[in-house]
Amino acid sequence: MTFSFPFCKSANPVRIPIMAVKKKVESAEKILHRKLLALWERGQSSYCEVRGSAIHGRGVYATCFIPKETKIIEYVGELIDKAESESRGISQQEKSQKTGDAAVYIFTLSNKYDLDGNVPWNTARLINHSCSPNCEAWIDGRKIFIHSTTDIEVGEELTFDYGFDVDCYKDHPCLCGRDGCVGYIVGRSQWPELQARLQGES
Ligand SMILES: C[S@@+](CC[C@H](N)C(=O)[O-])C[C@H]1O[C@@H](n2cnc3c(N)ncnc32)[C@H](O)[C@@H]1O
Ligand SMILES: [Zn+2]
Repeated sequence: MTFSFPFCKSANPVRIPIMAVKKKVESAEKILHRKLLALWERGQSSYCEVRGSAIHGRGVYATCFIPKETKIIEYVGELIDKAESESRGISQQEKSQKTGDAAVYIFTLSNKYDLDGNVPWNTARLINHSCSPNCEAWIDGRKIFIHSTTDIEVGEELTFDYGFDVDCYKDHPCLCGRDGCVGYIVGRSQWPELQARLQGES
């Protein structure tokens, strides 16, 4: 089937094969659908699922027994350079001051790039912090994966150490409830400094 413009006076009217055009549009939609599905699936894992958390908001829970040192799920997101990361960090900070929502999803990847995980298909963005975590985030090239650092029982919440800096400890009280919780979301390596500051205040 072809389509010719009725107002075209040319001896050789423009002929557009309608079926061919339609087919091309459909296949572009299919490609987009396949890409979105692949993106979505990259952010999921049969090892875990999202549920309401006793620590904060939503959390990620084991759907089966997970042995120590298992690659559980990818932390997916947008690759951004440091300038973009800083600008997003500032706007997230401003937003959090207005709304009280302190969630930050930007991960340091290298000295050039960060990964902004604030996309709905990134399940791992909902993993909460704990002072006694059962997971760690490992960087593999330009990708980040969450690995178990202990055996994890079915139904256990997945957690990792956010590694926040001690300088802003007052902004991030920790509600992990684990034995030995230091009361604030601060990276383990800075716990001695945190203890010194807390003692200095009392
Ligand atoms: C990346 S989000 C984690 C998912 C979050 N639970 C949610 O529902 O959006 C990080 C935010 O969760 C909260 N959070 C995570 N771990 C926490 C903890 N141990 N104690 C208190 N709040 C925590 C903090 O507000 C933190 O800024
Ligand atoms: Zn804690």
